[in-house]
Amino acid sequence: MARSTRLVFALAALVAAAAAMAHASSHLDVGFYKHSCPQAEEIVRDAVRRGNAREPGVGVGIIRMHFHDCFVRGCDGSILLDSTPGHPAEKDSVANNPSMRGFDVIDDAKAVLEAHCPRTVSCADIVAFAARDGAYLAGGIDYQVPSGRRDGRVSIAAEVLNDNVPGPTFNASELVKSFARKGLSADDMVTLSGAHTVGRSHCFSFTQRLYNFSGQVGRTDPSIDPAYAKHLKMRCPWPSSNGQMDPTVVVLDPVTPASFDNQYFKNVLAHKVEFTSDQTLLDSPWTAGVVHFHAAVQKAWEIKFAAAMIKMGKVEVLTGDEGEIREKCFAVNPYYG
Ligand code: HEM
Ligand SMILES: *[C@@H]1O[C@H](CO)[C@@H](O)[C@H](O)[C@H]1NC(C)=O
Ligand SMILES: *[C@@H]1O[C@H](CO)[C@@H](O)[C@H](O)[C@H]1NC(C)=O
Repeated sequence: MARSTRLVFALAALVAAAAAMAHASSHLDVGFYKHSCPQAEEIVRDAVRRGNAREPGVGVGIIRMHFHDCFVRGCDGSILLDSTPGHPAEKDSVANNPSMRGFDVIDDAKAVLEAHCPRTVSCADIVAFAARDGAYLAGGIDYQVPSGRRDGRVSIAAEVLNDNVPGPTFNASELVKSFARKGLSADDMVTLSGAHTVGRSHCFSFTQRLYNFSGQVGRTDPSIDPAYAKHLKMRCPWPSSNGQMDPTVVVLDPVTPASFDNQYFKNVLAHKVEFTSDQTLLDSPWTAGVVHFHAAVQKAWEIKFAAAMIKMGKVEVLTGDEGEIREKCFAVNPYYG
């Protein structure tokens, strides 16, 4: 390549990078509350600690809450709003009810924040901080969360599964498309799926794979390790009489269930994962390569995870004078006047 051509390429890359940075940094900032509410992040972390003491593992549930918040109308706290008569909210979509947990932790953090710095810290930021803290308190990396999000006023249950939150039966190309719609890459998708190294799943989220694979009653997905399939069947008998309301849960990572480590990627390689959306990461050579890399180099995955969370946390955010700062995370502010 000629020297001048190389220079043009280098310049183009620089301009693109600068544009990307300007775009990102003009919206959210690390330490956004350092003057208005200096204790904000500490207050949130303490609430996550209290939550974990009450209900072990609830903190990691908030990592998922942040994901489901960001994928529907951006990271605007819309997942936190309660349904109102005749208007089911995101919270009550089958993707969230009954499986989503940690709402009480967010409400607890908000109550303390309102006492210290009234109407200052958005619920959307509380979720972003608490997601980081949930991972950190489980042994994950402690990264800095850009903040300054504002809270939305709209939450509609029907929007959750309507091209927004991906389902556990998705295959690799559907997952790549789903994340691309939010401006996230296939690498981000594989990296973030590593969150399935902690937490739990309800049986109903994967029993079709054990007992009715591709609609054939009695068939088990042959891509599940046979011993692991047997283990899951013992814990999740089927068909359950109460379907979606069956409260039975199983840990996502059978090896190190409570540590935020790279074990998830080793589980994918060993075919010991619960969802099609996990196992399918081996189906395309490119995503499979990323799985192998993360399984081999824990530190690299941790750093990439933090970066991908920060990127996901910027999806379609409200900033400046958009939206509002809710007084209670489960309801929009009343109109005064
Ligand atoms: C790639 C597409 C994804 C799919 C299809 C998916 C699907 C699921 C499903 C079905 C559950 C079990 C829910 C239940 O039945 O209780 C779950 C749990 C979980 N997911 Fe994902 N997920 C995906 C990506 C992500 C991402 C990007 C994150 C966060 C960065 C995440 C974090 C979690 C966590 C932490 C849990 C455990 C929740 C708890 O213990 O309460 N997932 N996921
Ligand atoms: C993934 O799912 C889509 C939509 O259901 C389907 O068209 C596609 O063929 C599937 N891809 C693979 C590799 O199975
Ligand atoms: C098995 O799967 C098929 C296709 O997804 C579905 O139509 C059928 O209702 C399932 N059978 C049972 C007993 O759940």
